[in-house]
Amino acid sequence: MSDGAPISVLWPDPSPEPVDDDTLIARYGRADRPHLRMNFVTSVDGAVSLDGYSAGLSGAPDKRVFGLLRMLCDALLVAAGTLRHEGYRAIRLDERRRAWRRAHGLTEYPTLVVASGTLNLDPAQAAFADAPVRPVVLTRRDAAAPPGLTAVADLVRLGDDRVDLVAGLAELRRRGLGQLLCEGGPQLFGALTAADLVDEVCLSVAPLLAGAGPGRITAGIPSPARSLPLRHVLRADDGTLLLRHARH
Ligand SMILES: NC(=O)c1ccc[n+]([C@@H]2O[C@H](COP(=O)([O-])OP(=O)(O)OC[C@H]3O[C@@H](n4cnc5c(N)ncnc54)[C@H](OP(=O)(O)O)[C@@H]3O)[C@@H](O)[C@H]2O)c1
Repeated sequence: MSDGAPISVLWPDPSPEPVDDDTLIARYGRADRPHLRMNFVTSVDGAVSLDGYSAGLSGAPDKRVFGLLRMLCDALLVAAGTLRHEGYRAIRLDERRRAWRRAHGLTEYPTLVVASGTLNLDPAQAAFADAPVRPVVLTRRDAAAPPGLTAVADLVRLGDDRVDLVAGLAELRRRGLGQLLCEGGPQLFGALTAADLVDEVCLSVAPLLAGAGPGRITAGIPSPARSLPLRHVLRADDGTLLLRHARH
């Protein structure tokens, strides 16, 4: 598997030597129980975006881990807001990553799961229209589907005034999708935190001051603070820190 931007380990077991992808895979891994991992990138001063998008925060080291985390999951959960705004395309993995998945008894591609209360979704968006695996949409019971959406995605209706995320994750587990990676965005992160569903946060800290304006990586429903122990700190040559915090 192609090793990308140089990344080394600061803690635990510090070493200045760049790590290969196998070492990174071992450090992030797959959990031995149902697990929800969040992955975000932020600036030193906590911004969720630069000029409205996450791309301005995400350098090569963040992209390297981003790709590996996609390879490791059963399903990739994303909020409709981020899917629309960032123009999500179909989740594709290169042949080496597909081979890794096959060798580890996984499907070739993870399943895309979209959380949307309104079903304001475009079935022609490549994330749906071009998907190698039929996506799942978690939505509210009475949300009206736009024409064509049921042709390209399974709708799972749970919850009356908002998507019931506890029931939604249980349904995904029932479908064999136990290892979940969530790429945000902030409203969904806030809701998952409030429901106490977040097991892990992988956070890339870009060496940038974004200044005032952008929001945080979490938003929406306030919830009690919860402990989330540090599990590793990686460092990239460009000064990006790659943190992993997890309950277990
Ligand atoms: N820095 C990063 O790593 C990162 C990662 C992701 C996103 N972002 C940034 O975040 C911004 C997008 O944020 P956003 O405000 O649109 O938030 P979001 O969390 O991406 O999307 C919110 C939408 O998610 C859907 N949703 C479904 N169930 C929900 C629930 N239980 N709770 C909350 N939302 C639920 C709703 O969609 P419907 O409207 O369809 O009902 C809601 O409007 C963009 O600027 C993007 O670039 C940054």
